Amino acid sequence: MAGVVGAPVSHSLSPLIHNSWLAGAGIDGVYVAFSPPKDRFGAFAEGLRGGAVRGLNVTVPFKEEALAIADEASPSARQAGAANLLIFEPGGVIWADNTDGAGLLAALKAQAPGFSAADGPVVIFGAGGAARGAVAALIGAGAPEVRLVNRTLARAQVLARSFNAPVKVFAEGDAAALADAGLIINATSLGLGGGPGPEAALQAAPPTAVVMDMVYRPLTTEFLRRAEALGMTTVDGLDMLLGQAAPSFEALFGAAPPAGDVRGLCLAALESGG
Ligand code: ATR
Repeated sequence: MAGVVGAPVSHSLSPLIHNSWLAGAGIDGVYVAFSPPKDRFGAFAEGLRGGAVRGLNVTVPFKEEALAIADEASPSARQAGAANLLIFEPGGVIWADNTDGAGLLAALKAQAPGFSAADGPVVIFGAGGAARGAVAALIGAGAPEVRLVNRTLARAQVLARSFNAPVKVFAEGDAAALADAGLIINATSLGLGGGPGPEAALQAAPPTAVVMDMVYRPLTTEFLRRAEALGMTTVDGLDMLLGQAAPSFEALFGAAPPAGDVRGLCLAALESGG
């Protein structure tokens, strides 16, 4: 048994994804959604110590707390300052990992196969947990420079200083952030549920820039629509979700996800509002 924990969690596609893979792989397992009260996450996770539940994917707002309660953490979780995966070892140890970065890189590979992080500066809108994970993944993938654009400048500055790498901070609306960008990512919550995305002067970026949105509800956000209108290659958030789910499944159930159209299942669920 495994699951996803978040607050709220009812919108999560993770149970659909993992249960479909369990069925496809013929594994006798189940993947459920948990939503403890926001101030009870620590007690909730401690209660699973010992392995009655094999592990949990962790989503907003518990990713940082998940890392804090773990006894051991992978380099990617430590670098991202957050965990999206907890494994409860039978001996009592809680192990933390972060597969969001792998998911981000998998999404780029799937939808922008010509892209290389080393090709140019990466611009990230946002400075929360999602942005932090993206900075870690892209520096690790060889990005020469990361530029953070965030409403709260001080938060971006704290994030930039926590990396021993060229991470620069730009104010919202500063088009200079976009000059010669190779990749532009929305890691804010703007655009979720259909609103406009971050204010970004996409036309200031080269037309060869790849534009990615971590938001996948709706799948084609206004941010991605604007990029498409400029002829840019776009990457949606669903492949990132699937890209973090695959290594999670392997860690939880000890097998690679079976072949099958799980993206199609997710698209159908998104279309029906599921
Ligand atoms: P996550 O863990 O998903 O990154 P988060 O830590 O709450 O979530 O971060 C949300 C991001 O969206 C932040 O960068 C936030 O900007 P602030 O740091 O200024 O709060 C950004 N964001 C959310 N609502 C926003 C809004 N209305 N305008 C601009 N930025 C917004």
